[in-house]
Amino acid sequence: MNIPNLPHPGAPAHRTLIAPSVLACDLARLGDEIRAVDAAGVDWHHVDIMDGHFVPNLTFGPDIVMAIRRASEKPLDVHLMIEEPERYAEEFIRAGASILTFHIEALPEPRPLIEKIRKLGARPGLVIRPRTPASSLFPFLRDVDMALVMTVEPGFTGQKFMADCVVKAAQIRREAGPQFDIEVDGGINEKTVEQIARAGANVVVAGAAIYRADDPRAAVRRIRDSLKRNIRWRDPI
Ligand code: DX5
Ligand code: ZN
Repeated sequence: MNIPNLPHPGAPAHRTLIAPSVLACDLARLGDEIRAVDAAGVDWHHVDIMDGHFVPNLTFGPDIVMAIRRASEKPLDVHLMIEEPERYAEEFIRAGASILTFHIEALPEPRPLIEKIRKLGARPGLVIRPRTPASSLFPFLRDVDMALVMTVEPGFTGQKFMADCVVKAAQIRREAGPQFDIEVDGGINEKTVEQIARAGANVVVAGAAIYRADDPRAAVRRIRDSLKRNIRWRDPI
C-alpha cells in the first residue's frame, strides 16, 4: 500500500527538527537546562515517561511535565513508555504535552486513544520498540501525525545506537510519503544522525549527545547540519 500526500494537520513537509531528551539533563537544574537548549535553537523538548512496568525504569509524572511547560514555550514531545497509556493521556495533555506518543506494543488497538488525544488538542504519535516491525504501524499512518522508531531498547538514556533499526524509518517514509513526521530516538549523535536522515527521518531525539556535551550549543548545530545535509525526502535508502 502506497499512500502519497497524506493529509496530516500540523505536519508541514520538509522540516528537520531536534528534540533533546530531558532525561539526560542535570535534573537538579531542570529549568536552566531547558532554557539553555532553547537558546541553542532546539525545536521541541522530548520528555520520557516511564512506569517501571512497560520499561524497567521510572521517570516523570504530569507535575514535572507542567514544570517543563513553565520553563519553555516550545512544543513538548511527550513519549509514554507506560502500560495502559489510555489511563494517563489526558493528564499529560493537561500538563502541557503538545505531541503525545505511545507504544503500539502497549495498545494494539490504538485508534480510540489516537482520537482522544486529538480531541484534547494534542498531536498523536505511535512508537515501535526495536523488535517491532515497521509494518505494525502501517494501518495507522493515516491516523497519527508522527511515527517514532526506537533505536535503543526503551528505558535509559546513554545507550548504544542500534543501527539495524534504521531501515524501519525508511520503510515508514516509503509508506507514508513526504508529508509526515518520522522521529528516531535512542543513541543519536552527530555521527549516527547521518544514517537516520538518509533513511528519511526528519525528527531526532538526542539526550546524552546534547545535554552531556561539553558545548550543547555546538552539539545542536552539528546534529542539525548533519540532518539537513543527509536528509532524503523522496528517495529513502
Ligand atoms: C530511551 C528514551 C530516549 C532516551 C534518549 O528509553 O526514550 O528518549 O532518553 O537518550 P539518548 O539520546 O542518550 O539515547
Ligand atoms: Zn524517548
